Amino acid sequence: MPTLRSATLSPAPAATPSPTAVTPSPAAAGTTPSSAAKRRMTARRAADSPDSPQFASPHKSPLAGSGHFGAPKMLSGSPKSSRKRLYGDLVPAERPKWNPRDPAQMQAVKEALHVATTPSCGLVCRDDEQRRVFEFCKACVQQERAGSLYVCGCPGTGKTLSISKVKQSVSRWADEMGMETPDDLSINCTNLGNTSDIFGKILEKFQVRKKASGKLSPLQQLQRMFSHKESAPRRMLLVVVDEMDYLITRDRAVLHDLFMLTTLQFSRCILIGIANAVDLADRFLPKLESLNCKPLVITFRAYSKDQISNIINHRLKVLEYDVFEPMAIEFCARKVAAATGDMRKALGVCRSAVEIFESGLQDSSDKGAGVVTFDHMDIALSKVFKPAVVNNILCLPQHQQMVLCALANTFQHSRKKATTLGELNKSYIEICRSTQVPAVGMLEFSNMCMILSDQGYLKLGQSKEDKLRRVTLQIDISDITFAFKGSRFFEKCLEQPKF
Ligand SMILES: Nc1ncnc2c1ncn2[C@@H]1O[C@H](COP(=O)(O)OP(=O)(O)O)[C@@H](O)[C@H]1O
Ligand SMILES: [Mg+2]
Repeated sequence: MPTLRSATLSPAPAATPSPTAVTPSPAAAGTTPSSAAKRRMTARRAADSPDSPQFASPHKSPLAGSGHFGAPKMLSGSPKSSRKRLYGDLVPAERPKWNPRDPAQMQAVKEALHVATTPSCGLVCRDDEQRRVFEFCKACVQQERAGSLYVCGCPGTGKTLSISKVKQSVSRWADEMGMETPDDLSINCTNLGNTSDIFGKILEKFQVRKKASGKLSPLQQLQRMFSHKESAPRRMLLVVVDEMDYLITRDRAVLHDLFMLTTLQFSRCILIGIANAVDLADRFLPKLESLNCKPLVITFRAYSKDQISNIINHRLKVLEYDVFEPMAIEFCARKVAAATGDMRKALGVCRSAVEIFESGLQDSSDKGAGVVTFDHMDIALSKVFKPAVVNNILCLPQHQQMVLCALANTFQHSRKKATTLGELNKSYIEICRSTQVPAVGMLEFSNMCMILSDQGYLKLGQSKEDKLRRVTLQIDISDITFAFKGSRFFEKCLEQPKF
């Protein structure tokens, strides 16, 4: 029996506190909307108060305050549901069954797993990092001072997503505290034609008229602007510079100049730089330190197995039904965590497993649809984490690949461990004939085999006569068949009778 769907949000999980716990409303903070100045002072008192409810627990997410980022829309079995109250434990916590043949349901699953989908249920596993970034921005806004932060971590560790959520919550917090919300600007450095264009982008935000600027470069204009009280913008500006690696590799001076903007006397910039390379901090921080401008560094560590499965499960909570066998998600999380801890990859593998499951549906007449299993995930994972040899096979020239197919055909169904070059050539010619590809001559064939031997795919013995040279395979047949899975041409090559 399906459980009741709660029309309103269920109580937030422990990691996502209720809105009031994080961002008290102006009313709660004792503010009066009539006087901005008064509001500001009162709000500050409230915020500074040791009783302030903000981040009372270090584990609470700074982002949980928004109605948009609260608990997932659909949570079944809420302990507060009227049915549960009436029937207590008699209500089975069974979820509706997934119908993968329903295109709308299938689409919803794929969307929940898509990297471009911002999880509606908020972020899990990045509470601490988000809290630290939020606290940093909050302090800058409260003290009306500039500051810089350097966020780094491997790709797919949730940096961009976390910072964009923090940015929203800083605005919301300032608004609710009756403070002026900081202006904000996001720049992705991969979109810059030139590294120094970044200063033009920041300048644009201040809408400085060209006439007033004379011949000064955008950087010089910014430097001048932030050095004089009269010209310095009063409003705080939160600048998020993503993919900052791009600035570092091309021209480190740009990076130094950028961070230095936050040290100028009247600067009100809060700069958050995000980079993938974790060792970059070591390379550019010492210089910034010597310039008295060392940013706070926050490192996003690669996701662990438990975090990956937690994130996947959390994203799937927006669905009413179970899509994966729990073991399948565990398997994916374990593999991805052991490789890179990249969430983008984990989501890609899950989507691929869903697609494999979906293509199986077409062949099956089974009406009962089932779920994505461990085996589907296994295939999806092996596609993503191909052994190096498989990738190498895929990079070989076509005729060398056909020789490997001939070898696979020779040994696949026999106990033989060796053949001769002449026999192998016959098998190769057979493949060429059936696929209508002109075969190369014996001399070239023997050269190809020598190349394959040098690369470790096969071993060639010695003989006076070329055709009698002994040939053994040095890699697994399964690597050859796996490499060519899905290629019609090579699947045909592998169908040839053995010799
Ligand atoms: N904690 C998380 N919760 C939910 N989804 C996440 C989380 N971390 C990463 N993701 C997913 O992985 C994708 C990559 O994250 P992103 O923030 O772009 O990583 P980075 O900027 O570190 O390369 C995001 O678009 C999001 O879909
Ligand atoms: Mg990113």
